[in-house]
Amino acid sequence: TAIKVGIIIGSLAKASINRKLAGALEKLAPEGVSFSEIAIGNLPLYSYDYDADYPAEGRALKTAIEAADAILIVTPEYNRSIPGGLKNALDWASRPWGTNSFAGKPVAVIGTSPGAIGTAVAQAALRPVLGFLNVIQMNQTEVYLQFKPDLIGEDGAIANADTAKFLGDYLKAFHDFAIKHKG
Ligand code: FNR
Repeated sequence: TAIKVGIIIGSLAKASINRKLAGALEKLAPEGVSFSEIAIGNLPLYSYDYDADYPAEGRALKTAIEAADAILIVTPEYNRSIPGGLKNALDWASRPWGTNSFAGKPVAVIGTSPGAIGTAVAQAALRPVLGFLNVIQMNQTEVYLQFKPDLIGEDGAIANADTAKFLGDYLKAFHDFAIKHKG
């Protein structure tokens, strides 16, 4: 079964290692899984003042999330939490009240950082937010990936065969999860 995965990258940095990871994951995606990025970098800072007349950026974000069969969030850890830009996007998607675009959506979380625990704390911070957004979370497999310069080769692919196998299996599990839980 084909599934459309919306990719949200938590980093706004041009040289983002999480953007690189998202690219490497796309290369490992099982047949039938298509990735398309849902951009979050052009959103204003959310306030409920916008609710009466939601701007185009907010509407586009909501439409893209609603159109995806499942969402994969690829996020760095900033100061032991998720980046502000990602939280801002989640807030935009959740509103106006009663129109939460994430409700019932299958969502998985992954990320990489140079630190030894590889975004574990950010992922732990993100999960209760996703719980409140009433998504269906993929709880297993968890991926805590330490970023080293040789993780991803010049070709943009995961260099190590064991790591590539692990991440390929993760994406297969995500594919199965998305098929089971998509609306
Ligand atoms: C970081 N970094 C970081 N790393 C980590 O493992 N835990 C952390 O709490 C933080 N905190 C943090 C805060 C801020 C503001 C920055 C800019 C960075 C380092 C971070 O993992 C590294 O810069 C990565 O390159 C971030 O991923 P992206 O943005 O390149 O995808």
